[in-house]
Amino acid sequence: MKRRTFAGIGAGVFLLPLAAACGNGDDSGDGGGDGLVVGFAQVGAESAWRTANSESVQAAAEADDRIAELKFVDAQQDQEKQIEAVRNFITQQVDVIVLAPVVETGWTDVLQEAADAGIPVVLADRGIEAADEDLYVTRLGSDFAEEGRKAGQWTVDTFAADPDGVTRILELQGTTGSAPANDRKAGFFEVLDGEGLAYELVDSQSGNFTAEEGKAVMETFITTHGLEGIDLLYAHNDEMGLGAIQAIEEAGYAPGTDIQIIIVDGSKAGFQAGVDGKLNYIVECNPVFGEQLMDVVVAVSEGDEVEKFTPVEEGVFDASQFEAELPNRQF
Ligand code: AHR
Repeated sequence: MKRRTFAGIGAGVFLLPLAAACGNGDDSGDGGGDGLVVGFAQVGAESAWRTANSESVQAAAEADDRIAELKFVDAQQDQEKQIEAVRNFITQQVDVIVLAPVVETGWTDVLQEAADAGIPVVLADRGIEAADEDLYVTRLGSDFAEEGRKAGQWTVDTFAADPDGVTRILELQGTTGSAPANDRKAGFFEVLDGEGLAYELVDSQSGNFTAEEGKAVMETFITTHGLEGIDLLYAHNDEMGLGAIQAIEEAGYAPGTDIQIIIVDGSKAGFQAGVDGKLNYIVECNPVFGEQLMDVVVAVSEGDEVEKFTPVEEGVFDASQFEAELPNRQF
């Protein structure tokens, strides 16, 4: 059984020893047959983005004859369930573990266990805190801070010349402690502060990336602050933005007009809301990277050089582009 350790290498290109192979050494994961056995601990099914991501990864694994089996676990947005899934993958001696970490912290012990077992870990989608960077090989996913910067730049471009002077903002954050919530917030305010926009963050709460919680938080915002004089809602994903739009309409306001709205993801439902004039800017977050992930998994199992982080390609869309783009959306 071939085993190797991979802790202790810093950021940048990650190089596995050339002699290294997959976790159980025979490229099968089940002691026989061809192809890799891969364990995938997915966040959950909280959004259209997530469903599309799960489908993309599962379809790519199914179609790829380098992959013998994908063991898929839906952790229902619960870190304990994800840790349990990773431990089960270690017990089953899978060849590669793919983890989409629900939050950034709390991974040291279980990732050390994977390292001790000689099983490489690939992060898909979300990242973890820098202190644990040596405990995974590579991350494939979005540059969430850049997504936040894109939202911030549109905000500056849209409101800098506002004669009222101060742009009043509501923010619906994603899951507390998650990489996209932390980084989308940081990137957004980095640009507002850097560009010197006069703004007031009127309120900012987590809607946990779901439509239900996004709607409930927006109802609370409206009850607490009203909507008069609020310029912008920045929602960290489509579902929360769509939930908020419902709350705004039920309160008798016109989303997209009485209050401008930015969402992140770019699902069909998000674009349709844009076509309907109910929101104003979409920052794309691309979930369809299953085939690319399989290439990374195979490369890692074979000890190839891989970048520490590979961002997926993503765009931005304003109101003039919603209608033309809608038919192109894949989720
Ligand atoms: O980690 C990606 C984020 O997770 C997506 O923006 C969101 O919709 C999902 O829940």
